[in-house]
Amino acid sequence: MNYISSLDNLRVALKRHVLNQSHLTSPHVLQVVIIGSGSGPDYAQVLTGISAEARTVTPNEVSSIASHSMDVVVIGPDVDPSAAQIIAAENALSSDGVLIVAGSATLQGSPAQPHVTDVWESPFGASFETITSFRFGTAMAGCPTDLTLALATPVQNSFPPDVPEEVEHGAGTLDCYEFLVDLHKYVEPRFYTEIGVEYGASLKLAQCAALGIDPAPQLSVPIAPQHSISYTTSDDYFRLADTSTMKAIDLCYIDGMHQIEFALKDFMNMERFCHAGSVVIVDDIYPAHPLQGERIRQSRYWTGDIWKIIPILQLHRPDLIVMPVDTDPTGSLMVLGLDPNNNVLWDHFDSIIDHAINTMTEVPESIIERSEKFDPRARLMKKVFKLIRKHRGKPSMSNALIDIRTLINNPRLRKAR
Ligand SMILES: C[S@@+](CC[C@H](N)C(=O)[O-])C[C@H]1O[C@@H](n2cnc3c(N)ncnc32)[C@H](O)[C@@H]1O
Repeated sequence: MNYISSLDNLRVALKRHVLNQSHLTSPHVLQVVIIGSGSGPDYAQVLTGISAEARTVTPNEVSSIASHSMDVVVIGPDVDPSAAQIIAAENALSSDGVLIVAGSATLQGSPAQPHVTDVWESPFGASFETITSFRFGTAMAGCPTDLTLALATPVQNSFPPDVPEEVEHGAGTLDCYEFLVDLHKYVEPRFYTEIGVEYGASLKLAQCAALGIDPAPQLSVPIAPQHSISYTTSDDYFRLADTSTMKAIDLCYIDGMHQIEFALKDFMNMERFCHAGSVVIVDDIYPAHPLQGERIRQSRYWTGDIWKIIPILQLHRPDLIVMPVDTDPTGSLMVLGLDPNNNVLWDHFDSIIDHAINTMTEVPESIIERSEKFDPRARLMKKVFKLIRKHRGKPSMSNALIDIRTLINNPRLRKAR
């Protein structure tokens, strides 16, 4: 099991309580011990990329750690610690160290009286673990969360030289930006968001208020006054930034990290701000060559394994209207009938992603051939956009969504104009 949700939870705890402490970060080498039984998450992988020395021990080995030598002790969800082990973990921590406990928040028998700095329940299943951070020195006051790229997965904005020529091509009948132009024109969003801004080419198509999220944009033009950019990863934006004033999203474009766990989380997080009349577009669902579909970028045209979101949504969210669109170069998925209260993907996130990463390893022919594609130039498209626009905001979108399902099942309307 990949336990992506547990790894994310550790990231959040470290960003809130450890990496924002200047004396614990570089040039100091963070000393971390992870207590696990061997069957839980591989927390050490979270720490690659920061200056840290991490070791994993079993519960029985905790007492052998030198006193006050650790900055952080993490107790994994696979361990139900005894009072003696908790006391040993406390003893291992420096005077202002941080104890992060996943799964069990009780500190029975603790002589040190640590401050509880944070308790939260993970939004992801299957475990929905409770995470508790304890601090042994003085309680921190008002330390802002670390929103730097520390702990983030590399953005993969570059690719190796000399990629074989036959790899570097796309397909599709309409440029993906022209498809976006049509969407803006006919859906007339009041608020647009996108994950993955890069040079700003897609953001600038929005006439309305817009938010872009990208940790490393390379803007080639100044952004419009009604647009803003959050310079964070999308995970950090939704878990750590203040989203309380975010408006309802009418149109959203997901084009950030091209790995399925990120794209699915982006979809889930965005859906929380959507409504039944929203339109979500996920870019890069159609690799034109298997190498473009690798999780680690190997080519200029790179879709990663975003294609997996098609079968995932079709299987787990039959309530959604899922339309793979034949855009150039790498296809776009249009999703309609959004439901911000649906928890299915949240409840099963870890097992869905585990299956996607470990079992769906080859790009199927049906994806390369775009066998389910909708032509973006088809008459159907504008009819769908107009129905969305017309019924958006009405007490119920149910009938409009039924009409859309009827339209998209009409083979005559699927043909290009
Ligand atoms: C393909 S580009 C986006 C292109 C842009 N939407 C357009 O069409 O003009 C992908 C962008 O995703 C950003 N990115 C990578 N990892 C990300 C993450 N975890 N969260 C948000 N954005 C990410 C990269 O920095 C890069 O700028």
